[in-house]
Amino acid sequence: MDILEKLKNDFKNDYEKLLTNPDNLEEIKNKYLSRKGLIPTAMSKIRDIEPEKRRDFGQGCNALKEEVTKKLGDLENKIKKEEKLKKLKEESFDINLPSDNLVLGNNHPLAIIVDMIKEYFKKEGYEINEGPEIESDYFNFEMMNIPKNHPARAMQDSFYFDENLLLRTHTSPVQARVMQERKGRPIKLICPGKVYRKDEEDATHSHQFMQVEGLVLGSGINFLSLKNTLLNFLKHLFGSKTKIRLRPSYFPFTEPSIEVDMTYEKDGKEKYIEILGAGMVHPNVLKMSGYNPKKIKGFAFGIGIERIAMLYYGINDIRYFYQNDIRFLDQFKEHIR
Ligand code: PHE
Repeated sequence: MDILEKLKNDFKNDYEKLLTNPDNLEEIKNKYLSRKGLIPTAMSKIRDIEPEKRRDFGQGCNALKEEVTKKLGDLENKIKKEEKLKKLKEESFDINLPSDNLVLGNNHPLAIIVDMIKEYFKKEGYEINEGPEIESDYFNFEMMNIPKNHPARAMQDSFYFDENLLLRTHTSPVQARVMQERKGRPIKLICPGKVYRKDEEDATHSHQFMQVEGLVLGSGINFLSLKNTLLNFLKHLFGSKTKIRLRPSYFPFTEPSIEVDMTYEKDGKEKYIEILGAGMVHPNVLKMSGYNPKKIKGFAFGIGIERIAMLYYGINDIRYFYQNDIRFLDQFKEHIR
């Protein structure tokens, strides 16, 4: 029998033994494939073979090497897989078993307030909408009646991605987004969400904060509807004794515009604090998004959620909301839903 035939036979025997006892896999691998293993050794002896048989011999050796490598490799993979399965089986445990030191988390105070606001307005028949936080100049400013170079842009300096894309500075762009979708039909919506402004951080300012936008469009909606809507909402949150004060203000997207202050108690005295901006939707805003201001009117408001949360819980620094301090967050535990 020539060398190659013998090698093939030997490997066949070894391989069969391996199938019942795979412990020797490494050893057999070395025996045939290592630098001084049987196959490389055989190949190095090609010079001892008669010249006319060298070609067949060389090819035979290579084919055998390939076969051995593949068979042993497959076997190794199979063994590894089986070991993994076995380990998984051994380590499996019942994930339904309760842990003995389970610490329950709770909702973030801002999430609690947003939930309360949503719940209230839902009952009043409002739909809840969410616009994108990365907004176009077109929706954030242009459609809100704040053209390029308008001085009102300076009040809401932002974080830009490029000339046309920015982190929204208010939730108002969702007004235009929905108007363009509804094509002249009545709208009653709120949109809670995060907004961003390039602002110095202090106890009452943050570069990121939250608003709830409100938009109501229809026939017969007037300034009184706006006032009642806001008053009823604030009474619902803060109690029936709550009073509001409307101050004339300016927003490019409402006319007339107001700022709304609400009463709160400090050191036993009644005081007013500003909590939102609002107004009757500006005819230009209606027109630009396909509404006829002669037929449909309405109001819009933008409430600062942090302000509401601070008043509701008696929190005196806006930065607490964003620091993720467990000692602060833990205090809202009773609100787990
Ligand atoms: N978008 C305004 C702001 O962020 C608030 C606002 C909303 C005012 C809707 C009027 C109407 O300052």
